[in-house]
Amino acid sequence: MNLEKINHTKAAITAVGGYVPDTILSNQDLEKMVDTNDAWITSRTGIKERRILKDKATSFLAIKAAQDLISKNNIEPESIDMVIVATITPDMNVAATAAYVASSIGAFNAFAYDLSAACSGFLYGMSTSAAYIASGKYKKVLLIGADKMSSIVDYTDRDTCIIFGDGAGAVLFEPSINEFGWEDEYLRSNGEERMALRIKAGGSLYPTSKETVENKWHTLFQEGKTVFKYAVSEMANAAEKIKERNNLKGEEISYLVPHQANKRIIDATADKIGLKENQVLMNIAFYGNTTAATIPLLLNDNKSKFKKGDKLVFAAFGGGFTWGAAYLTWAF
Ligand code: UT7
Repeated sequence: MNLEKINHTKAAITAVGGYVPDTILSNQDLEKMVDTNDAWITSRTGIKERRILKDKATSFLAIKAAQDLISKNNIEPESIDMVIVATITPDMNVAATAAYVASSIGAFNAFAYDLSAACSGFLYGMSTSAAYIASGKYKKVLLIGADKMSSIVDYTDRDTCIIFGDGAGAVLFEPSINEFGWEDEYLRSNGEERMALRIKAGGSLYPTSKETVENKWHTLFQEGKTVFKYAVSEMANAAEKIKERNNLKGEEISYLVPHQANKRIIDATADKIGLKENQVLMNIAFYGNTTAATIPLLLNDNKSKFKKGDKLVFAAFGGGFTWGAAYLTWAF
């Protein structure tokens, strides 16, 4: 291997955008649909309301988030080299949603594909984007996390329908022009637990049939308690690893940017790694769990707070199982 040819360019996030649909599904609305109540949902999850996209597909959310990023940052769409859409709710099972999104935003010189890692999709996508930039091959990678969870939720199942919402967020990765950017990552997965959070049918394991439809195998199923336990321990373990490996003291971390699945999971993670409440970013009350969109929506909602050099620690856990943590210094 010719080491001189390896380019160790650091990748930085240089722009952020986001989009949530206007329609609100509140806890009070859900009280009329299933046997639940606002007090239970608020105390067990921290969620008050979520956004729902009517009559359109995930690409609509992704395009809106990308256009928000492009217009606010004067990005020339034709200068984008690649577009990745992290999603588990693609427009269609075949034909990458990312390809349609790239064409729709005018990224005519880009190649595009989808990345599927459920609630860790955006975290994994940041690792992928940063690696492409570090390779020196591409200069502008647009990463979008977008999910229309309402398209796969069973609104008669109170265990899941109270949790999820629709939304999208986007970031642009470019070579860093200062010393800040992607610093470290710790990513893991465990497929032995895949049945604990899944849509059983519609893939090659159980192709769509009369039986799969009648059994409701096309909507999301979750063993809430199992997922909760894993999420609490693994998000904290991963974040702790990142802290140790980078000699980060609790008070040095500017913000924890955690996947928004449950306020109790976020609080437990923050607590285990020794962070105070003002170091933890949270918007779960307003959007619920938007799967691949939670982390970029958090960045978009809080970007005015960030200063150059701020130390951000990301953590996520999701179906698969997939999980991990990452460390990034804010570059602009
Ligand atoms: O983002 C991907 C990863 N996903 C997650 O991280 C989600 C992880 N799991 C969770 O967040 C939680 O497990 C849930 C929010 C899904 C459930 O919370 P929980 O505290 O684990 O509740 P539970 O399932 O243990 O249920 C406690 C009680 C039960 O009643 P009993 O048996 O104690 O009488 C449930 O039947 O609460 C009842 N319950 C509800 N009550 C009102 C369950 N769902 C509801 C509901 N409204 N929607």
